[in-house]
Amino acid sequence: MSVTVVVGGFYGDEGKGKIISYLAAADDPAIVARGGAGPNAGHTIRRGDRTYKIRMLPSGFLNPRSQVLVGPGVVVNPAVLLREMEDFGAGGRAFVDYNCGVIEQSHLDADSGSHLGEKIGSTGSGTGPANAARAMRTLRLARDVESLAGVTVDVPGRIHQAIRSGGSVLIEGTQGTFLSLWHGTYPYVTSKDVTASAICADVGVGPTVVDSVVLVLKSFVTRVGTGPLAGELPDEETARRGWSERGTVTGRPRRAAPMDYDLVRRAVMLNGATQIALTKLDVVFPECSGATSYGDLPGAAVSFVEEMERNAGIPVSLIGTGPEESAVIDRRGGP
Ligand code: IMP
Ligand code: MG
Repeated sequence: MSVTVVVGGFYGDEGKGKIISYLAAADDPAIVARGGAGPNAGHTIRRGDRTYKIRMLPSGFLNPRSQVLVGPGVVVNPAVLLREMEDFGAGGRAFVDYNCGVIEQSHLDADSGSHLGEKIGSTGSGTGPANAARAMRTLRLARDVESLAGVTVDVPGRIHQAIRSGGSVLIEGTQGTFLSLWHGTYPYVTSKDVTASAICADVGVGPTVVDSVVLVLKSFVTRVGTGPLAGELPDEETARRGWSERGTVTGRPRRAAPMDYDLVRRAVMLNGATQIALTKLDVVFPECSGATSYGDLPGAAVSFVEEMERNAGIPVSLIGTGPEESAVIDRRGGP
């Protein structure tokens, strides 16, 4: 039995979805609960020949034995949520909290204007304006929305019930540390704090209950939208290295930079991280592709992992070696 929190260490898009999906399959948690801002977050999961792009459901939804819950700190778009439940067969075990805020058309409209849309480079999902309305105490909640009547529950209550019965709980964050409204590159940030403590608060879990905090770091740094990115590479160099990516929600090209240990050390500190999940090692070291054992990594990749551990001061316990959910080196039980 354990409570694990998984958060992003950079600017989002670190590969949290794939890591959470792997942990949901490997550890069989009773509950996967999503915190974070809202449907501005996109996660991509690949299993077999299927690719799933999700914006509202927790990324652990592929495990049919796990309940997937969205905490009251998250704003939901009912149309997106209900469509994903239907498309991905999560009906009957996917629920949102009574107190989740609800995104409406006016919030979507307000998210595309010159300030949020152009200056901040918002995803246009209505998340920021809905969170602003929540702070103003004018936002409607899930408990008041008819289309959500069959899928609303007490999420903190269910999580604590599962913990009391000895089950494991996986708490998933969205966005990344430096998109935090408090700790990020303000004003080029999302509309909430998204570090581990905030993600726990989003789902109603206090700090004493948490056993481990997994910080997800990609093997290079990317950022979509505007805002500073130290060491940013020109587009041609990003393409030459094979690091070009596009956003899951917006389809925008992601800007890229090499590994940045100043960001890593600060993210470990801000999240109280206990371990690192290092993703896309195969993109930087193609010989690693699909490896599931640490002993199969080439020397240069091992040196990269060791340099990460030296800088971070915590172990790299999971390593992503390909887009497939199962392409993971799991070192949690030892080397
Ligand atoms: P908003 O959260 O949609 O208002 O966008 C604010 C900033 O955060 C923009 O630069 C977005 O590109 C970025 N952002 C928000 N959510 C994510 C995410 O899940 N991944 C990556 N960037 C994000
Ligand atoms: Mg994403």
